[in-house]
Amino acid sequence: MSSDQDEQSTDSPDAADTVAPQAARSEASTAVDILDTGDSSLSRRQVLAGAGGAGLLAATPIPLTLQRPRQQRASAGATPEQIHLTWGRDPATSIAVSWASPEPAVRPRVLLSGPGGGSRVASAVRRSYTDGISGEVVWTYHAQLTGLAPGTVYSYAIRADNDGAAEPFSATFRTAPRGRAPFRFTSFGDLATPSPRWVLSYGQSAYAVAAVESFQPLFHLLNGDLCYADLNPAHQSEVWRDFGNNCQASAAHRAWMPCPGNHEIEFGNGPQGLGSYLTRYTLPDNGVPGLRGRWYAFRVSSALFVSLDADDVVYQDAGAFVAGPGPLTPAAGAGGDTIPPGTSFYIRGYSGGAQTAWLERTLAAARADHSIDWIIVQMHQDAASSSATGNGSDLGIRQAWLPLFDRYQVDLVLCGHDHDYERSFPVRGFDAMAGRDAATGEPVQTLRPHPVTTADASVFDSSEGTVHLILGCGGTSAPLDEYGVDAADGLRQAKVFTRANRPAPTATPGVFARAGADALEDATWSAMRDPSTGYGIAVFDVHPGEVRGGMTSITVRYFHAVGADPVNPASGRAGAPTPTYTEFETFTLVRHRSDG
Ligand SMILES: [Fe+2]
Repeated sequence: MSSDQDEQSTDSPDAADTVAPQAARSEASTAVDILDTGDSSLSRRQVLAGAGGAGLLAATPIPLTLQRPRQQRASAGATPEQIHLTWGRDPATSIAVSWASPEPAVRPRVLLSGPGGGSRVASAVRRSYTDGISGEVVWTYHAQLTGLAPGTVYSYAIRADNDGAAEPFSATFRTAPRGRAPFRFTSFGDLATPSPRWVLSYGQSAYAVAAVESFQPLFHLLNGDLCYADLNPAHQSEVWRDFGNNCQASAAHRAWMPCPGNHEIEFGNGPQGLGSYLTRYTLPDNGVPGLRGRWYAFRVSSALFVSLDADDVVYQDAGAFVAGPGPLTPAAGAGGDTIPPGTSFYIRGYSGGAQTAWLERTLAAARADHSIDWIIVQMHQDAASSSATGNGSDLGIRQAWLPLFDRYQVDLVLCGHDHDYERSFPVRGFDAMAGRDAATGEPVQTLRPHPVTTADASVFDSSEGTVHLILGCGGTSAPLDEYGVDAADGLRQAKVFTRANRPAPTATPGVFARAGADALEDATWSAMRDPSTGYGIAVFDVHPGEVRGGMTSITVRYFHAVGADPVNPASGRAGAPTPTYTEFETFTLVRHRSDG
C-alpha cells in the first residue's frame, strides 16, 4: 500500500510502510468448509433470483417487511459515491461526511444548511491509497462539520468542481442530543455486500441496511467484518465499493460507527493491513500517535460508546491468508512481492499494550463522570460465543479486557464474528480451569466468564454483570447459527481459542490450513441462542430516567429474518434473502444513575 495525504488530517492512516507478504483465504477452517461445499454458489443464484424489488423505504410498522433499498449506481469521474457519516469528537456538535469517487475530485466540499436557513461550505480532505494487490488507486474525501447545534436536523449536499452531477447528492442528518435524553441505536456486524460476485456476499446485506433505516436510529454500530474484501484479494477495492454503495442507503443519513474485524486485515495495506478501512473512515481521535482510527470512544447522552480492535488481543489467526497451493501474486505496479502459500497476516499484540492502557484510562474516566451511566463496548471478536459452526470464544479477550469490564462495570459488549445471535447472562469474574483440551481432554484454563445469575429474567441489573451479545447477523452468505452442545451432559458448549492457530501444512502438498479452536467448555454463561436463522438486527432504546440517582434502562429488542439462510436450518431446503424481520426477544438492562 502507498498512501497519498493531499491534506493533513488527524485521522489519516499511517504513511507508506513495509509490510510482510500477506494473503487471505477465510474466516476460519469451519467457515472454509461452508464455502467450499458450494453453498456460496447456491446463495448467489438465489440472490439473482430474489433481487427484483426496488424502491424507497417508508416508515415501517413491526413486524417489518422491508423493500429492498435502491442501490447506489456505480458512478464515474468524480461523482460522489459510497457516502457515509461518522460522529466527530462530540456527536452533539460534530459529524464527518465521507465519500469516494472513481477519479480525483477537484475542490471536494460539503454545503451545509441548518434549520434557520443559514448555510456554509466545508472543504473536504482528500485521502487516497493504492491497493497492495490490484494496484488500484482509491480516492476518498472527508469533511468535518463542527459547531453544530445538539439534537438538530441539518441538510447537506456534496459537490466537486468536476463531479459531473446535474444535481448534487443531498441528504439530512440529526445531531445527538445534549445531556440525559432518550435515544435509539442499532447494531450488527458481518454485513458483506449484496453483490453475488464476491465471496461471502449475499442479498440479505441490502435488506439489513434497509432494516437499520426502518428503525430510524440516531446511529448504527457496525461490529467489524464489513465486506470481506480480503477474501476477494484481486478485487478488494471493488468489494469495498459495493459495500459502501449498499450502506449509503442508511449511512448517508445517520452515523454508522465501525470497528475493525479480522477481515479488515488486508494484503499489503498498511502495518496492520487496515489501510483501506482507515482511509475510508474518519473516526474520533484516540490520541495515540501512529494508532489513530483503530479504536476510539464517543459519548451520546448518558452513554459512553467504546469501539475496540480485538485483532490486537485475540489468539485466533483469522486475517488474510494464502492457503495454497498457488501463491498470491500482486498485479504489476502494485509494488508487492509474491505471497507464498502458508502466509497469514497475524497482528496480535500490534499496539504493544497501548490499546488496553487507553481502554483502562477511558473506562476509569467514564466511571468517575457522574454524567455517564452506561458503558457500551463494540468489538468484532467474541469473549462469549458458543457457535459450533463458527469461531467460538477467545481467551485473549478474556485475559486482556474482561477484568477491566468487571472493574469498571461495562454494561454491554456488542460483537460479531460468528454469524448468528447469542446473549449471555450478566457475567463477572471467571470460573478457573473449566475448559478442556479439544484433542486430549486435559484441563485447560479458559477463564470462563462467571454468570452472576442463570435465571433468564427479562430484566437484568448490568451493574452486577456485563451482558455480551453476538450480533454477526448482518448479511453474509454463511450463517453460523448452529450451536455447541456437550454430548456428555447435554449442556451448552463453547469452543475457545487459547493459543494461536497459525497455518500448518495439510496432507495436500503446498496447501495449508488453520485449525479451529483448541479448547472446549460448558457455556454456563449462555442465556439465549437463535437456531432459526443467522440474520437479524438489534435495536437499543436508552431511557435516561427521570430522577437524579434513580433508575435508567436500555430496552433491547432483537429482530431476526427467518428463512433468509441460503439453506433453511429447520427444513434443509434452499432459502433466499428476505425483507421480513420479526421480533425474536426483548430484554431490559437497568442500573442506578450515577448522579445520585
Ligand atoms: Fe470475523
